[in-house]
Amino acid sequence: MTTGAEALENAVKIARHYTKRSGVIAFHGGFHGRTLLTMGMTGKIAPYKEGFGPFPGDIYHVPFPVPYQGIDTAYSLRQLEKLFKTDISPSSVAAIVIEPIQGEGGFYAAPLELMQKLRALCDEHGIVLVFDEVQTGFGRTGKTFASEHFDVQPDIITVAKALAGGYPLSGIIGKSDIMDSPAPGGLGGTYGGSPVGCAAALAVLDELESKNLNARAGEIGGRLYQALVDIKTRQPWLPVNHIRHKGAMIAFDFVTGEEPEPSLIAPFVKACRDNGLILLPCGQFGNAIRLLPPLTVESDILDEAIEIIEKSLLNLV
Ligand SMILES: Cc1ncc(COP(=O)(O)O)c(C=O)c1O
Repeated sequence: MTTGAEALENAVKIARHYTKRSGVIAFHGGFHGRTLLTMGMTGKIAPYKEGFGPFPGDIYHVPFPVPYQGIDTAYSLRQLEKLFKTDISPSSVAAIVIEPIQGEGGFYAAPLELMQKLRALCDEHGIVLVFDEVQTGFGRTGKTFASEHFDVQPDIITVAKALAGGYPLSGIIGKSDIMDSPAPGGLGGTYGGSPVGCAAALAVLDELESKNLNARAGEIGGRLYQALVDIKTRQPWLPVNHIRHKGAMIAFDFVTGEEPEPSLIAPFVKACRDNGLILLPCGQFGNAIRLLPPLTVESDILDEAIEIIEKSLLNLV
């Protein structure tokens, strides 16, 4: 496979074939791709879904816990139980799909209790649990897979992005009885398993191991996190809040009071870009900035980025 979306499509196809059920449950704020099925699974309207519907049926969403936005794990789980009563019986659900740490949704980590409960519910009802690690996989969070932070085993993991260091390659890792369900030819595509992509992926795996990039992700994340906290401590009036990181997935939100402040994103991103630093916004309210440096970044480049961020923040207010 070549894209993350294709990996997610195939994860759902496999889960449906294996369970002989059709329902899919995903989460508000989640992002799974831009094909029709994965747009349907994505839990954010603008810019991903607006104007592109209708979407495939039998896909349901429940709230993803973000405690400071008033949604805790107990609430999410109550909504899931309610969904089972009002919209779809658990015996009709093929897969529950979740990012262990939401990417486009705002770099919010799923709480351990949620992951444990999802595992238990999937076991109870014969549902396939899919962790979408397209953004979190291969060292980004300080472990090869973000799932390892939870000690909860999914049935299927989807991978792409860092897998082949930018070459178009994606994949699915799963339990063999589930993965072997579709017949040969049921999954595939002209460019699946491109030899160049596979060679790149093997080189990435060697680099990850020989340079100990999992540990480096932890260092990068710790350094950027601390730098952002220091900037905020020195200038407490800056509208920067909820600084967070898991390994080298680092983010902060623009807020005034407790309200999201998306209007600051465009000028901030532009100011950083004008000074040579490319940043991507994210978040359900479009008010979060994420930092995703390469795991091979040199420390002096990180220092330069921190300077640009501080300067651009100070010019904003
Ligand atoms: C968690 C997650 N899933 C799926 C995708 C889709 O991957 P692709 O853009 O390669 O189709 C992305 C891309 O950002 C992602 O972050």
